[in-house]
Amino acid sequence: MAKIIGGLTTSHIPAIGNAIARNKQDDPYWKGFFAGYPPVQKWLDKHKPDVAVVIYNDHGLNFFLDKMPTFAIGAAHEYHNADEGWGLPTMAPYTGDAALSWHIIERMVEDEFDITSCQEILVDHGFTVPMQLFWPDRGPHMPRVIPVSANTVQHPIPTIKRCLDFGKSLGRAIESWPEDIKVVVLGTGGLSHQLDGERAGHINKKFDLMCMDKIVTDPEALTKISRHELIREAGSQGSEFIMWMMMRGALSAKVKKIHQNYSIPISNTGAGTMILENVD
Ligand code: DHB
Ligand code: FE
Repeated sequence: MAKIIGGLTTSHIPAIGNAIARNKQDDPYWKGFFAGYPPVQKWLDKHKPDVAVVIYNDHGLNFFLDKMPTFAIGAAHEYHNADEGWGLPTMAPYTGDAALSWHIIERMVEDEFDITSCQEILVDHGFTVPMQLFWPDRGPHMPRVIPVSANTVQHPIPTIKRCLDFGKSLGRAIESWPEDIKVVVLGTGGLSHQLDGERAGHINKKFDLMCMDKIVTDPEALTKISRHELIREAGSQGSEFIMWMMMRGALSAKVKKIHQNYSIPISNTGAGTMILENVD
């Protein structure tokens, strides 16, 4: 049967993609941030997952405010990236696993989650930047991918509890797939940031570190945070933390934290990276 080996988190800021494109990893500004990734790359090299389920949010490349699914899952053989205007090089397509995608969609709909199935979906920086950070060489062990998109943009966004429950259902769906494959689940985005309005530049280190702690030890406690409170504490784009909760739900109740890094500010964001290994 398919086995979820663990979860990874990372922020997905376009400026990171620019730093990679311009080889700025050793610049003083970037050094501490990029130092958070070799431990993840080593962990991935050791475990070699066959599939990465990538939970991210679309920022207007594929879905816009006129049509915004709360939860969408890719069911394509291949996922293309396109220019969003950030000046980032466009990435080569990523290979999907359409059969596993459809299995997940069917199981989750049976489980009463209303999924938008996408046989064609463009992936933006929310997807490509984490892929570049975790698999910089796109070598022979590059996993197949399944994009899972959440609405973090157009209110009403889903509640934190709904996102944790979504992850639990996603985890059950993955682990009911009969092939003996290893799966890693990525929660991208966050942590605190606000790109617009009077509070532009808002970062809340205390709140970010509390979230990074509780997501390991007591994710249920985080479901008590309302969406208004999340935006108040973490900023308007800090809503992206809900995708970390979706990832966490897919893991076992008890997880082992293997690695953590937190850098501020990276562009406008509190940038958090974690490896959580499943304990069964
Ligand atoms: C930034 C962060 C994001 O999550 C994003 O999608 C775009 C920009 C930033 O900090 O600049
Ligand atoms: Fe974002």
